[in-house]
Amino acid sequence: MGQVSISDVAEHYGTPCYVYSKQAILDVYQAYSDSFASLDHQICYAVKANSNLAVLGVLAQAGAGFDIVSRGELMRVLAAGGHADRIVFSGVGKTYDDIEFALNQGIGCFNVESISELALINDVAQQLGKRAPISLRVNPDVDAGTHPYISTGLKDNKFGIAHDKAVGVYEQAAMMDNIDIVGIDCHIGSQLTEVAPFVAALDKLIELIGALRDKGINLRHIDLGGGLGVRYIDESPVTIDKFAQALLPKLQALGLKVFFEPGRSMVANAGVLITRVDVLKPTEHKNFAIVDAAMNDLIRPALYQAEMAVIPETLPSDDTGTDAGNEAMTWDVVGAICETGDFLAKDRVLTLAVGDILAITGAGAYGFTMSSNYNSRGRASEVMIAGTQHQLIRKRETIEDLYRDEMLWQD
Ligand code: LLP
Repeated sequence: MGQVSISDVAEHYGTPCYVYSKQAILDVYQAYSDSFASLDHQICYAVKANSNLAVLGVLAQAGAGFDIVSRGELMRVLAAGGHADRIVFSGVGKTYDDIEFALNQGIGCFNVESISELALINDVAQQLGKRAPISLRVNPDVDAGTHPYISTGLKDNKFGIAHDKAVGVYEQAAMMDNIDIVGIDCHIGSQLTEVAPFVAALDKLIELIGALRDKGINLRHIDLGGGLGVRYIDESPVTIDKFAQALLPKLQALGLKVFFEPGRSMVANAGVLITRVDVLKPTEHKNFAIVDAAMNDLIRPALYQAEMAVIPETLPSDDTGTDAGNEAMTWDVVGAICETGDFLAKDRVLTLAVGDILAITGAGAYGFTMSSNYNSRGRASEVMIAGTQHQLIRKRETIEDLYRDEMLWQD
């Protein structure tokens, strides 16, 4: 990976371990910046994809803004050197405390998802003697054509304010003393490979912006959310450049500042999860390679039937897929957790031996951030590489860490 050998990283830090390339993250950030250079724009990296402080720090230093969905994410961004005024606060369930904290930090914008949230923000802002910058997250009712769990722009999803109600809610917002209307927002889903749903959503927002102008409500920015897909195995997602080309003419005509909230596309392919083969268990029906990472480390295959590529540490030396006398066989790569759903990859042709190191690619997004301690397993370590250097950016959790805050019942 880059100029660093994955087996060296495995030896140095142990496995399972997430490894991220600093340069790969910066390259994608640069690709977004270059593609939208002709517009006043702000890339707000969606922190939920990968919230390690080092990742946030690299992006903050490059000038990125951030999209957050909790006070926890906000505190991480601030701890990593990000600026509050470049942060948009998304999410359907913001609490009084979240809003108060964000306002006190000088948050850039709240992406508001309901009338009750709007009223709460107005109340909190009034208590603090401030005006809260808001945009409404509109649900444009566009089919993103992606996995149902990560599709968010349809009428029956919990997200956003219905397109046909949006103007009315803006009118209510305009009458609230402590609300400053600054923008409009949408996010229609994740891992979109086509540009058409983005264009359809943009058209719906443009229509609303026109209707709002007619009512004297003038916005400063439009936020098109995140959602651009990546290649995990053989997908061919639209490139950032083509994505921009499809949207630029309409955005230029609008004359508003443009925000994006990319998560996955910024970091997925900048990261791998490395894991060691502990047990090989061929059976009559299936061959299982039991590795030291599991669904608690990487839940995407179990939760979304996501397919992610598995690459052995040393690629086979010839096209027949054989090396060192081992035979290529079809394996399910699974963890050691007591669930049949605990798999990382199915039916992969691999040449394996116990002790081999495997890299699961595309793991930089929604990998570590969705990991858990199920089966009392400590979470993996995280390492960042740049050039020939590697640095630990999160220590492996110890078992003692897991029950440090628990207490025995006292009789
Ligand atoms: N903005 C908002 C309001 C979002 O809800 C999301 C993702 C993003 C931006 C970033 O979307 P991206 O560019 O990453 O597609 N855990 C799932 C993905 C869940 C996405 C949730 N929202 C997965 O592993 O596939």
